[in-house]
Amino acid sequence: MADIKEALATLGVPPERIQVEIFNGSESMTPGVIGAAKRAPHLPTDDANTGPLISFARGGIAAHWKASAYQSILELAEACDVPVRWSCRTGVCHSCESGLVSGEVVYGPEPLEKPAAGNVLVCCSQPIRDLVIDL
Ligand code: FES
Repeated sequence: MADIKEALATLGVPPERIQVEIFNGSESMTPGVIGAAKRAPHLPTDDANTGPLISFARGGIAAHWKASAYQSILELAEACDVPVRWSCRTGVCHSCESGLVSGEVVYGPEPLEKPAAGNVLVCCSQPIRDLVIDL
């Protein structure tokens, strides 16, 4: 899989179009955290003053949710350069499980298993009101 990933990159496939899911733990499960650009978290370029306010507690920023722009809280975190772990992006692996300090989410797609009480799977959830997440 690593060879195919490298071959695709060599052929010019953009990195965001190459997705790998490995269940043996041989590859980092912390994209967005390890090797991430050392850019400070920031508001997304298209932040608006409407929609639920999503506060990334460790990142020290709060951005508004825009359903037309993001499919998941993970995508908003990435737009803000907030370091976040992920792998499957579909609610299977729980790599993205993070503390939900306050607020409420809905899931779409539904994860195979719900996160632990007080946590949220940011890859497959959307806010239904203001949130504070331990990211
Ligand atoms: S990235 Fe796998 S459950 Fe969220």
